[in-house]
Amino acid sequence: MKTILSMCVALLLPLQATVAQAEDAYTPKVYGKKGYVWDEMTPERVEVLKMTGDPVKGKEAFRGCRGCHKADAAGVREGVYPRLSGQHASVLIKQITEIRAGIRLNPKMLPFVEDPAIAVDEIADIAAYLNSVESLRENGKGPDDMSARGKKLYTDNKCFTCHGKNGEGDAAKAFPVLAAQHYGYLMREMKLIETGARGNSHPDMVKAIAKFSQSDREAVSDYLSRLPDYRTLNAVPATK
Ligand code: HEC
Ligand code: HEC
Repeated sequence: MKTILSMCVALLLPLQATVAQAEDAYTPKVYGKKGYVWDEMTPERVEVLKMTGDPVKGKEAFRGCRGCHKADAAGVREGVYPRLSGQHASVLIKQITEIRAGIRLNPKMLPFVEDPAIAVDEIADIAAYLNSVESLRENGKGPDDMSARGKKLYTDNKCFTCHGKNGEGDAAKAFPVLAAQHYGYLMREMKLIETGARGNSHPDMVKAIAKFSQSDREAVSDYLSRLPDYRTLNAVPATK
C-alpha cells in the first residue's frame, strides 16, 4: 500500500509541475500585435474541449447572461447583443475562452464570464445548452433587401470557404454560423474585424473584409441576416 502511494505521489508531482509551468509560460496575444497566431489554443480552451457539456446545467449557468442575451439566447433585434442560439459549441467555447484570456476584447461582458462568475466546466455546459436552444423571436434584418448583391459579394470574396454556402459555419474548425444573425451585429463585427478591434480574427478574413465599402458591408450583412437558421435547412429532407 505504502509503495503504491509513494509511486502515485512520484508520478503526480512532476505532472503538476509541468501543468504549472505551461500556465506560467502562456501569454495571450491579440490580433495585430507581435506574435499573434490565429487559433492558438489557450490552456483553458484545451481543457474545456475535453469536457462533455451538460445542457441542463448550462441553462442554469446561462441565467447571468440573460440580462443581455435574453432568455432564449436570441439577443436583441438591433444587434447590440448577438444571437447565440444554434451557434456551434466549438465556436462558443473559442469565443468565451478567448474573451476570458483577453484575446477577444469585450470589456462590457468580461465581468459576467470571468472567474468566479463562470467556472471552467460551466463554459462547456453553456456551449452545449446554447447549441441546442432555439430562439423563436425573429432576428434583425437590413433596412432594404440587398441580399442579391450581398450573396454575390459573399461568393466572390470566398467567405463561403469558411462560413459555408448557407452561412452554416463549420463546427469542426470552429468557424461561426452567420446565417440568421442580427444585421446590426454583423455590421458591427465586420467593422471591428477590419480595424482589428475585435482582437481575434483570421488574417485572411481581415484582408477580405478590408476591401468592402460601407455599402458592401450592408449588403453582405443583409444577405446573411435573411438566410434561414442552418438547423432548419438541415431539417429539410435532401430530396425536397
Ligand atoms: C452586459 C451585457 C452582456 C452580458 C451580461 C453577457 N454578454 Fe455576451 N456579449 C455581449 C456583447 C455586447 C457581445 C458582442 C461583443 C462584440 O461586439 O464583439 C457579446 C458576445 C458574446 C459571445 C460571442 C458571440 C459571437 O457570435 O461571437 C458569446 C459566446 C457570449 N457573448 C456569451 C455570453 C455568456 C455565456 C454570458 C454569461 C456568462 C454573457 N455572454 C453575458 C454582452 C453581454
Ligand atoms: C479563413 C476562414 C475565414 C474566412 C475566409 C472568412 N471568415 Fe469570417 N470568421 C472566421 C472565424 C474563425 C471567425 C471567428 C473569429 C475567430 O474566432 O477568430 C469569423 C467571424 C466572422 C464574423 C463575426 C461572427 C460572430 O459571430 O461574431 C463575421 C461577420 C464574418 N466572419 C464575416 C466574414 C465575411 C463577410 C467573410 C468574407 C469576406 C469572411 N468572414 C471570411 C473565419 C473566416
